[in-house]
Amino acid sequence: MPTPADPTPDIAERFTTGGWAFTPEVADVFPEHVRASVPYYDDIQDLVAEASDWLLPDDGLVADLGASTGTTVHRIAQRHPTRRLRASLYDREPTMLDRAAQTLTEAPNLDVDYIPADIRRAPLNHGDADLTLALFTLQFLPVADRFHVLYEAHQASAPSGALLVAEKVRPPDSRWAEIAADASHDWKARHGITDTAIRAKARALRGVLQPHPETTLTTVITQAGWCAPEVLFRWHSWCVIGAFATPTGL
Ligand SMILES: C[S@@+](CC[C@H](N)C(=O)[O-])C[C@H]1O[C@@H](n2cnc3c(N)ncnc32)[C@H](O)[C@@H]1O
Repeated sequence: MPTPADPTPDIAERFTTGGWAFTPEVADVFPEHVRASVPYYDDIQDLVAEASDWLLPDDGLVADLGASTGTTVHRIAQRHPTRRLRASLYDREPTMLDRAAQTLTEAPNLDVDYIPADIRRAPLNHGDADLTLALFTLQFLPVADRFHVLYEAHQASAPSGALLVAEKVRPPDSRWAEIAADASHDWKARHGITDTAIRAKARALRGVLQPHPETTLTTVITQAGWCAPEVLFRWHSWCVIGAFATPTGL
């Protein structure tokens, strides 16, 4: 990340207005970039890994939709060295999955299926998932596509399975929205991103990242068949919601 002594432009500055994409070049810097761009990214990863204590038993299957470089599954596998775990990692950008494969060689307790596919169109390859993840992925899809993906993920879940979704949401009241936008900007600045890079990323994301109110997200989750949605984390416009495949697990 650039500092006054290191004026290397941020990757976001290479994109045109509304032109953000998860390119191979983004994949090369993704772990550092996402850490500096998403407030509390590491805390959210820790929350998900801790939830897997309950939600991903020995021999369990985790499906990660938009897995990028595999950070989440890596953290889960490291937390449970005595559990044998299976993972299906989906991402549209093959370079992301290549980076994930490099990282996950460090996790001998993990059997991984890498699926380079557009989750809006391709059928999901896995079945009976214990834990389904969509962390900061659905926010890039139109609501109708989110519904389709969540519906397919519900079909591919075990009855006892759970869902964790993380995304940027839009506070409906403009007063909270203003505070959320400035608090996020301040957070990124405190973590070393220049004002120029923050503005460049915001411009590049126009029309690409599509935040909706939290209530829209929970509505789509339940309409897709998931039960008991619960907010597990919320900081201004960043949230994590959990849900279960069935009310009783049967
Ligand atoms: C912000 S990143 C996700 C970060 C990751 N889940 C994590 O927690 O570190 C979004 C990822 O979703 C992928 N993606 C976006 N739209 C997709 C789609 N329609 N099908 C499959 N992958 C998609 C992108 O290539 C990118 O790697």
